[in-house]
Amino acid sequence: MAGKIPEETIQQIKQSLDIAEVIGDYVQLKKQGRNYFGLCPFHGENSPSFSVSPDKQIYHCFGCGAGGNIFTFITEMENVSFQEAVSKLADRAGVSVDIQIPGERPDRAVSKEEDRMLEAHELLTKFYHHLLVNTKEGQEALQYLQERGFTKNEVETFQIGWSLPQWNFTTTFLQKRGFSVEELERAGLIIQKEEDSYFDRFRGRIMFPLHDDKGKVVAFSGRALHEEKPKYLNSPETAIFNKSRLLYNFHRARSAIRKQHGAILFEGFADVIAAASAGIEAGIATMGTSLTDAHIQQIKRITDQVIICYDGDSAGIQAAYRASEMLSESGCHVKVAMIPDKMDPDDYIKKHGAEKFRDNIIGTALTLMAFKMEYFKQGKNLQDEGQKLAYIEEVLKEIAKLQKAVERDYYLRQIADQFSLSLDALKQQEKQVFFKERKKQPVNRESLTLPAAIPQTTQKLYPAYQTAERRLIAHMLKDVDTAYKVKELMGSEAFNIDEHQAIFTYLLGFYEEENEPDSSIFINFLPDANLRRLVSDIEMMMVSEYVNDEEVHDYIKEIFKYRKKLVIKTKKQQQIAAEKAKDYQTAAQLAMEIVKLKKELKV
Ligand code: UTP
Ligand code: MN
Repeated sequence: MAGKIPEETIQQIKQSLDIAEVIGDYVQLKKQGRNYFGLCPFHGENSPSFSVSPDKQIYHCFGCGAGGNIFTFITEMENVSFQEAVSKLADRAGVSVDIQIPGERPDRAVSKEEDRMLEAHELLTKFYHHLLVNTKEGQEALQYLQERGFTKNEVETFQIGWSLPQWNFTTTFLQKRGFSVEELERAGLIIQKEEDSYFDRFRGRIMFPLHDDKGKVVAFSGRALHEEKPKYLNSPETAIFNKSRLLYNFHRARSAIRKQHGAILFEGFADVIAAASAGIEAGIATMGTSLTDAHIQQIKRITDQVIICYDGDSAGIQAAYRASEMLSESGCHVKVAMIPDKMDPDDYIKKHGAEKFRDNIIGTALTLMAFKMEYFKQGKNLQDEGQKLAYIEEVLKEIAKLQKAVERDYYLRQIADQFSLSLDALKQQEKQVFFKERKKQPVNRESLTLPAAIPQTTQKLYPAYQTAERRLIAHMLKDVDTAYKVKELMGSEAFNIDEHQAIFTYLLGFYEEENEPDSSIFINFLPDANLRRLVSDIEMMMVSEYVNDEEVHDYIKEIFKYRKKLVIKTKKQQQIAAEKAKDYQTAAQLAMEIVKLKKELKV
């Protein structure tokens, strides 16, 4: 994560700055005991749940879970990359660092050529925009946009423009400014026809600049004014434009996404603009490609809550299904906002207005399960007995995957009501589906992940195994030997909570690289905002300075005990199922195993 900035430099910056002072520039902090408290800058609140620990050099919000070190604080507060945050803080600390800013990108240094490509795009954006809003040539396009409902404000904000319908206007414009045809061709702005002749890629189109996550224009999408094909013409992939990574409006939406704790994902960028005009600032869109892992990675850097709002036609619903599966597999909480009458969000806003869109579409987004129940209806005639049963079977498979009993119960009741079926019968069938599916892929029904929302109290009650895991991590963050000790004792077992296991793994890696214990530096090594938050949360917990072997053993025992309990629970369920199936031999075998496990628990 720390990239090429030397570890010593990071340490040096950290040591020369007081975290409370840095954060104090943004948040009014009051000292209380060893820590400072204030109103969290990352979510709206009236009573302070944001705390800063100068001892530990970290901050943490007990309300929204935000947390990290001074570097992550600046990254999130100022919407800048890690490198930029380091550079800003280095300035403040009077430490000299060798980072190229501006024009720098987080992952690699920008080459001279890329710099020039960016410059060409910036010049063109301004020029296309000028042509649209100030010239006679742009009038028809401007009128089209106005008729579509794009106000002056949106045209300004999204820097929409117009490219003249001539063959070499862009070419000449940029050549005059010192760009060679070869570099313009590589930038995707012009096309080579023959050896020595080039023409403009975008002619007579409404130009939408595409910004990267840092707000630099890296490409264009040009919309036809009439019925010409293609409707949208996009820049090709270049050194600065990666289609399967770029999310339209990401740089602008970022702070709204953070504030509202969620992003809204659209299919088309025209929808993003329309949504913005309806007061929805957290909208982003892929560029005509389906959602990729790279997109998801970017989204997850700032949120794990996504509302998918794709077109209401069957292609849109299909795409929403795929996107929802991918996002939820990556650990996001997904909802799906469905639009009636095959409309797209833009059409809907035009027809029904902003308020209805916010309240009736985004406001009533379906949970993933509820969406799937709609989705499986696609192409089925539920009046037909066979198709109805197939539908129920499909839904039960999904219900069986749900971790929480209350959730399963909720949806089973819905199905029971909808098809006038007995709830008991449905429950039984759901269990069968569960066991059948589990044979294919073992899963535990117990929720092993953390609760999504962190309650607004500083004193949280966790189950014993979770507290044990948290305390062990807290001690391992303080002491290398403890970490290796735990590693040895855990053997091939893992922490019950996936996030804890991930932190454990990263921490061992951190120590393996000969780093000293320092949680605020360790945080830089974590690739995932959730993990960073969790570490800062655990760090805010008070634990004794030293831990003895006995304590460590007790914690590990607690962790193993929970594992065993889960196994017993599963075996019990299997036993009941075996008895129901009159397979008494298996049932007896399981009963014996359960007794044995229970004995072990008591030791
Ligand atoms: P849509 O066809 O749904 O566009 O394509 P839209 O948002 O409704 O556009 P308007 O309202 O007709 O102007 C969705 C997305 O697919 C990509 C674009 O990124 C668009 O935003 N697309 C579409 C293309 O890249 N090329 C095309 O020819 C069409
Ligand atoms: Mn549209």
